[in-house]
Amino acid sequence: MEQLETTGSNNPVIDAIVSRSSTKKFSDEIVTRSDLETMLAAAVRAPDHGMLAPWRFIVLQGQSRAVLGSAMRSALQLRMPDADAEALERESSKAWRSPVLIVIVAEPKVHPKVPEVEQLVAVGAAIQNLWLAAHSMGYGAAWKTGSHAYDASVKTALGLRASDQIIGFVHIGRPTSKAPVRPGEFATKTTWL
Ligand SMILES: Cc1cc2nc3c(=O)[nH]c(=O)nc-3n(C[C@H](O)[C@H](O)[C@H](O)COP(=O)(O)O)c2cc1C
Repeated sequence: MEQLETTGSNNPVIDAIVSRSSTKKFSDEIVTRSDLETMLAAAVRAPDHGMLAPWRFIVLQGQSRAVLGSAMRSALQLRMPDADAEALERESSKAWRSPVLIVIVAEPKVHPKVPEVEQLVAVGAAIQNLWLAAHSMGYGAAWKTGSHAYDASVKTALGLRASDQIIGFVHIGRPTSKAPVRPGEFATKTTWL
């Protein structure tokens, strides 16, 4: 398994956070059900105001990736009727870039104390938990949205309701190429009072 970069912090959580970066290319190696369940269990430990569990996960692997691939292809065709065969093929191939793709959805509920924005950020926190868990297990991930995340026909193809919101298409697999780790810059973003 890939070793996490260390920061000298002697803290595996900090090391995982600061060594994470987006995966650009994935191998075909399958991700086991047990490893996926470990990642999902980490995801749902995200902070969650009101304990509304506003998330839903649709795991696409193997042939089921075609559900999203063909939905993205049809969505492009609807949006751009002049799109050529190559553009349509490129669109559907996005679903096949990794052995597993998890569509991570927010199902915001009407609640007197928990506005929708808090439920959406809870789902974002769940994605980060899932990603860090995957990373610590030697997997890579990539978080994508793009126009398909907001496309009604894509949501319908995935069995979602109009009120559901796709927060990310999260690719998971063994990485063969990763983005460089970005330097973190907090000093100019922080006010100390
Ligand atoms: C809500 C959200 C949506 C994103 N959508 C995309 C996307 O559509 N395409 C993409 O390449 N990256 C997307 N990203 C990933 C970021 O671009 C990526 O994390 C960023 O480039 C920083 O790189 P790093 O993950 O290697 O630090 C998204 C990230 C977030 C939080």
